[in-house]
Amino acid sequence: MKAIDVIERYSKIIAPANRMHYFPLVPVRAENAKIWDIEGKEYIDFLSNAAVQNVGHNNPRVVKAIKEQVEKLTHASYIYSYPVEPLLLAEKLAEIAPVDDPKISFGLTGADANDGAIKYARAYTKRQAILSYMKSFYGSTYGAMSLTGLDFQVRAMVGELSEIHYIPYPNCYRCPFGKEPGSCKMECVEYLKEKFEGEVYAEGVAALFAEPIQGDSGIVVPPKDYFRKVVKILREHGILFVVDEVQSGMGRTGKWFAIEHFGVRPDIITVGKSLGGGLPISATIGRREIIDSLPPLSHAFTLSGNPTASRAALAVIEEIEEKNLLRRAEKLGNHAMKRLKKMMDEHELIGDVRGIGLMIGVELVKDRETKERAIEETQKVIERAFELGLIVTHFNGNVLRIEPPLTIEEETLDEGLDILERAISEVEEEK
Ligand SMILES: Cc1ncc(COP(=O)(O)O)c(C=O)c1O
Repeated sequence: MKAIDVIERYSKIIAPANRMHYFPLVPVRAENAKIWDIEGKEYIDFLSNAAVQNVGHNNPRVVKAIKEQVEKLTHASYIYSYPVEPLLLAEKLAEIAPVDDPKISFGLTGADANDGAIKYARAYTKRQAILSYMKSFYGSTYGAMSLTGLDFQVRAMVGELSEIHYIPYPNCYRCPFGKEPGSCKMECVEYLKEKFEGEVYAEGVAALFAEPIQGDSGIVVPPKDYFRKVVKILREHGILFVVDEVQSGMGRTGKWFAIEHFGVRPDIITVGKSLGGGLPISATIGRREIIDSLPPLSHAFTLSGNPTASRAALAVIEEIEEKNLLRRAEKLGNHAMKRLKKMMDEHELIGDVRGIGLMIGVELVKDRETKERAIEETQKVIERAFELGLIVTHFNGNVLRIEPPLTIEEETLDEGLDILERAISEVEEEK
C-alpha cells in the first residue's frame, strides 16, 4: 500500500474531529527516536507521539512487560476485583508524586484524569467554581474541554460545563500586561486578586487548574516564583491547586513532574500520555481526603486499572529510574537549548527559545520587534523538515515543538537539530 492511498482512505472514514494534519506520515515501525514510514523512509522523531514516548518508541523493557502481561492476564477490571498490577503502579506513583499522603484514581486518557480532578475538587470543597488559564489545554472530554482556554469554537457548538473562569498565564515573551521580565510587578499575580474582587467569589472557588509549563499555547515557562505566590493566595481562600502534568510529567523536564521546578506541592496532579509508554492509562493523584470525597463508582471506567497498561507504566517508571533519564533529560535539554539559542543568534526568524529539559519551544516571528507570528513560515519549516527526515510540529501556529524521547541518542538529537536549522535557513532564504 502507498502512503497516498492510506491518506485518501482516512479522509473517507475517519472523523476529522479526531485529527489534526501536519504532514503525510504513515508510520509502520519505530525504535527509540526513529520512525519508518510505509515506504521505508526513516525519520528522526522530535514529537514522541505528542510527548508519549518519553522512554523511546518500542522500549524493550516496556515491550517485554506488555508481552508477559498479555499472555498472563490481559485485563481484569479493578472495579470488581483486585488485580495486583494497578496496585503496584498506584504505590509507585504515590512514591514519586509531589503530593502529600496521596491516593490514586486511574483512567484512560489525560482528559479523563482532568475530568476526575474537577469532580474530586468540587466534591471535596463543596464548591462549584473553577479557575483556569487562558490558552490552556486539558483535553477533549466535556470537563477537560470546558477548562481549556485555547479554543472556544467547539464549545459554542456543543455546550460546556458552567462556572469556569479564566486568568492570563504568565507569559514573559508576550506579557498579557505589556510588561518586560525583570521590571514588572508580577501583574499576573495581582490579577488573581483583582479577579476575586471584581468577578469571582473566592470562597466559592474549588480549584485552580494549571499546566506547570503551558504546552499547547507554545511551551510557555512561568517565572520561577510565580506559582509560589499564586498558591499562597489560593491557600488563604481554601482553593485547591491542581496541576496538569499530562504533557510535562514523567521526567520530560528533568524532574518526575515539572511543578517540582517551582517549589510548591499541588493538592492534585493529573498524568497521562507518557505514563503507559504507548498504552492508554492516566491517573489523578490527589491528597487522600480529596480522593476519598467521591462515593464508589462515581469516577470509574471499565478498562481503567488495566493490568497490561499498568505493567507498561511500571516498566516506564523502572526505565526512567534505572537509566537515570531525569538527569539525561536535563543534560540533553541543556545541550539542545544551547544549540537552539546559537541558532537564534544566526536566524532572525527565531524570536524566542524557551523550555526546561526536553520540553522546548522555538517561537518563529516575522519581526523580532513587533513579534508578529510567522505562521506560514512555521508551516514551511515543518514541511521542509519532514522532507529532510525530521518529525517536528508546532503549537499555536508558530512555536516549534521540540519534545523528543528522553532516550534519544545525542548524535540523533544533533542530526535532528541540523535538519531543523537547514529547514529554517531555506525558509529564510526563500523569503
Ligand atoms: C497538558 C495536557 N493536558 C491534557 C491533555 C489531554 O490528554 P489526552 O489527549 O490523553 O486526553 C493534553 C494533550 O495534549 C495535554 O497536553
